[in-house]
Amino acid sequence: MFFGDEDTFDPQSDLVDLKGKVAVVTGGSRGNGYATVKHLARAGAKVYLGCRNDKQAKEAMEYLRWEGLGPGFGQVVWLDLDLSSPKRAKAAAEEVIRRERRLDILVNNAGVCSGKFRGGDGALSTMATINYLSPFAFTRTLLPLLAATALNDFHSDVRIVNVVSASHKLIPFPSLKFKTVDDLNAKSLPSEYLRFSHSKLLCLLWTEQLQRLIDTAHPLGPLPIVALSVDPGVTECSNAQVKQHNSMVTSLRATFSKHLTTWTGVASPVVAEHERGYSTAFAAASETIWSARVKYKGVYLEPCPNGQCPKILSIGMFAREGVKDKERERILAEDLWGLTEKVLAECGVA
Ligand SMILES: NC(=O)c1ccc[n+]([C@@H]2O[C@H](COP(=O)([O-])OP(=O)(O)OC[C@H]3O[C@@H](n4cnc5c(N)ncnc54)[C@H](OP(=O)(O)O)[C@@H]3O)[C@@H](O)[C@H]2O)c1
Repeated sequence: MFFGDEDTFDPQSDLVDLKGKVAVVTGGSRGNGYATVKHLARAGAKVYLGCRNDKQAKEAMEYLRWEGLGPGFGQVVWLDLDLSSPKRAKAAAEEVIRRERRLDILVNNAGVCSGKFRGGDGALSTMATINYLSPFAFTRTLLPLLAATALNDFHSDVRIVNVVSASHKLIPFPSLKFKTVDDLNAKSLPSEYLRFSHSKLLCLLWTEQLQRLIDTAHPLGPLPIVALSVDPGVTECSNAQVKQHNSMVTSLRATFSKHLTTWTGVASPVVAEHERGYSTAFAAASETIWSARVKYKGVYLEPCPNGQCPKILSIGMFAREGVKDKERERILAEDLWGLTEKVLAECGVA
């Protein structure tokens, strides 16, 4: 962002100084997560690259060094994180708590867009588990550390970022309810893509409720923490690190997404390869958010191509529909939170 030009964003110049700060990025071994790790480390943070495979973590870290992580930049450390079970997600969060005295940035980026209905813990589908339930358990376990960081450091800028998708808009809101575990699985939806979109809608509602609790539940008053969700966009082609078949899938997805965006306005916007991770880095550490924190509490951001600042698309999911029923949205978010706590308890994750 140049002086007087508040509409552009470049992570090389527009992130806050992250020296001495600690971040966790899930799914950091490739794609949007890898790019986010890179941007945050280049701004000086110690970044935990969360992924379930040490070989992939090592490869990603070597690639980061090759791309340019020299002296003066932050540090990147592997966090053994498997989101296929909330119990394992909780254990990984406890490992962070054992190792660190502060946590400034949590980016829940890892996600899958397909998954068998073989039921994870507590009869939850694999997709709902990896995309929603485990990140919830991971975040909940880390909240005391995030809160302590926010309260103990006057200059803290603690942020929780959930990576979602514009496709959540495909889910018809009148049908939403959160009473049983089936309402999280959304098994009745006719395609995997819709179930993926539903899992991202859960993340969006969860983020809103999380911000509400951050603002109201602590005995000392609102905590200085911003929770927000962001769409990373679809990238036009993958980088050299991505394997050939993956790159084909990515470019096919980008083409499909481009058309879907034009026709319906609901797919993730397409961003150029060199802008991968921009919107997530913006949500996690931009100066723009630091200087207008209240404005960004609980919002949903969509990326804007060509170096433009990501835009706040809506505050609350119903805003997109022009629906004014904020009360129903609040009740839905509360129901979702209550149901999630219940399902986690049934999985033995207190
Ligand atoms: N790319 C898009 O077009 C697009 C559009 C909208 C939203 N999104 C969202 O943006 C995020 C990143 O997307 P991406 O395209 O960069 O994804 P990606 O390249 O497919 O990478 C996904 C990441 O999630 C990790 N992951 C998957 N299952 C996991 C598990 N059980 N435990 C721990 N980590 C796991 C993967 O690790 P492994 O290497 O171990 O599998 C990988 O690091 C996702 O949440 C996605 O839903 C993407």
